[in-house]
Amino acid sequence: MTAVGGTLVAERSGEADIAPPATMFIFGASGDLTKRLLMPALYNLAVEKLLNAHFSVVGVDHIARSEQDYRDYLDSTVPGLIAGHSNAPEKIDSAAWSWLVERCGYVSGDFEDEDTYRRLADRIAAIAAADGHANAVFYLAVAPRFFGPVVDHLGKAGLLKETPDGFRRIVIEKPFGTDLTSAQALDAALLRDTTEKQIYRIDHFLGKETVQNVMALRFGNGIFEPIWNREYIDHVQITAAETVTVEARGRFYDATGALRDMVPNHMFQLLSMVAMEPPNSFDADAVRTEKAKVVEAIRRYSPEEALKWSVRGQYRAGDIDGRVVSDFTSEPDVSPDSTTETYVALKYMIDNWRWSGVPFYIRTGKALSVRRTEIAIQFKRAPSVLFRDTPTGTLEPNLLVIHVQPDEGISLRFAAKVPGRKVKLSKVDMDFRYSDYFRAEPSTGYETLIYDCLIGDATLFQRADNIEAGWAAVQSLIDATAGGHGDIHPYAAGSSGPEAADELIGRDGFSWLPLRGRI
Ligand code: BG6
Repeated sequence: MTAVGGTLVAERSGEADIAPPATMFIFGASGDLTKRLLMPALYNLAVEKLLNAHFSVVGVDHIARSEQDYRDYLDSTVPGLIAGHSNAPEKIDSAAWSWLVERCGYVSGDFEDEDTYRRLADRIAAIAAADGHANAVFYLAVAPRFFGPVVDHLGKAGLLKETPDGFRRIVIEKPFGTDLTSAQALDAALLRDTTEKQIYRIDHFLGKETVQNVMALRFGNGIFEPIWNREYIDHVQITAAETVTVEARGRFYDATGALRDMVPNHMFQLLSMVAMEPPNSFDADAVRTEKAKVVEAIRRYSPEEALKWSVRGQYRAGDIDGRVVSDFTSEPDVSPDSTTETYVALKYMIDNWRWSGVPFYIRTGKALSVRRTEIAIQFKRAPSVLFRDTPTGTLEPNLLVIHVQPDEGISLRFAAKVPGRKVKLSKVDMDFRYSDYFRAEPSTGYETLIYDCLIGDATLFQRADNIEAGWAAVQSLIDATAGGHGDIHPYAAGSSGPEAADELIGRDGFSWLPLRGRI
């Protein structure tokens, strides 16, 4: 620990082991994900010296270019995109960056052409001869329509068969299917030539430190678990508000919408971290089993109930902190008569012993007034009988807020006496900020996920049943709104979302935490 500005700052512990040797084949080597997140994450792992001397990357893409051309492309695009260095690429650790770029190769080829996979097999054989390992991670940073075909070709080429000197792992990005049936079909296709243990389904929210910290908060402290249940908790609010619009993703987003894009995956990750039972261990399957159980316990609504307990909204022209935004329907690649939601608010009940009767409210949307992801746990009020004859009146409930991003931390709201002769209470906040205690390393959130995949730890990845349980919980709303059915409530860009969402939570006598200001 070192003192910084009077505060104790914990050093990042350097206890992690160097990952085993491996080759990471990145399908979609010239895509956005590769340059914005994967390469910067690999660079950060190289800076931390966590990659093996026999680690290498092979980009796979249809663009015809030489290995040297690919390295030059990485060299000219990635350094300016590395988190924490975007305004100062000169601060890049050039030794670590060169170390990484030297290890990058390239195979050009069509994802649907058998020949591409023959070349990959040759590459693996050459690496095995030179470096003595045949470990391969196949990272599918490609459009979802290629997930099935790429895995199918890998299987047919025999590249998914593990040997004593070679593990074979597949990393697959979201969106994992577009509904329950398509997710099940994709799982079946993936599992034809692999076992579940070889598949690493990414939900990048699990790479966020604060999301992982929910487990530390709940299970590493003695004071929270005893009150973490229906006896003490009134309701839970989970918010992922974004200021960004659909930007250049109009085609994808118009076909997807806020529900599919965020709820069965990211929002349910947050929900399951908060609501799961303590696992028997931090073993990957122990954790994932508890997470699957809680998502499976989400009440399955009928289509009518799904409509009743949800509000879908779409942004209209507005202003976000001085940035002028136009209607969603006039965004590039969005249909002018689109009924796709850019905002969704939902109420869910979890039908198990711990949570019976405790509503979980979820809201997420684009073009809102602030960027903020948080989980708010509102406790039951203390009886106000003692204060009945004082100016205090009704007592405010205690509130524990986990700030996932930005401004990561945890706040606890409680009542304190206002100094003076009269007994008057006021709400006050106790505030923990990560940045006051820990030095934040530049991170994309993908470092942990890539490292975990290399060492074979699947705890932070989604098992098939986790994914399918998520889709099953939202399926009735997908069905009820298919073909443009159901109301879409307009809201102004830069607002807190549609008023109907306030009415949804208001029906139960609650209100959303305001989107402006911390706690
Ligand atoms: C992605 C969604 O999975 O998550 C995006 O497709 C969304 O629409 C993003 O903006 C949010 O992630 P983060 O890490 O920026 O909160």
